[in-house]
Amino acid sequence: MAEKIRVLIPEEEVDRRIKELGEKISEDYAGKQIHLICILKGGVFFMCELAKRITVPVSMDFMCVGSYGDGTKSSGVVRIAKDLDESIENKEVLIVEDIVDSGNTLYYLMDVLKKRNPAGMRLCTLLDKPDRRVKDVKADYLGFEIPDEFVVGYGLDYAQKYRNLPFIGVVEGLEEQEGV
Ligand code: IMP
Ligand code: MG
Repeated sequence: MAEKIRVLIPEEEVDRRIKELGEKISEDYAGKQIHLICILKGGVFFMCELAKRITVPVSMDFMCVGSYGDGTKSSGVVRIAKDLDESIENKEVLIVEDIVDSGNTLYYLMDVLKKRNPAGMRLCTLLDKPDRRVKDVKADYLGFEIPDEFVVGYGLDYAQKYRNLPFIGVVEGLEEQEGV
């Protein structure tokens, strides 16, 4: 069944904000090189657009983490489905994520990565749903704070659909369908 998608953040606004984040990050990391770590799959659209707006040298790596659980809720148990290809030792790591929701995924992941001795580690997320937070995770760079609604687009999916939408949208009618 096709869901209805309501636009929450239009494309132009997302693009404008990513440009601002890129400028801020470039300033903050002046004279340094940034090692971007994209959290797959959701972070991929954001990372590509962000990286294009960063003016200091960047390298990139990808990690795929998932939480056991399905639908629109995460279970809190995190598994690494694909680890990084390269060492992060002595690198200025910037994690690029689509959304921080409960915070379970990043809490776990940042703990794992810190043990690998990066020179520094910061978090950049496109979206943040603070109302849903269970673990204490704070983004150093944030695109938008959003209300507790299930969103899609710009990398975010609902049952693997809608990642390619160029805006952030809310999937309507989920409450009735699934009780989330
Ligand atoms: P966590 O609850 O902070 O661990 O978030 C885990 C992951 O759930 C995020 O990285 C997203 O991939 C996914 N997620 C959380 N909220 C949403 C949403 O509103 N739409 C789509 N995916 C979401
Ligand atoms: Mg994600």
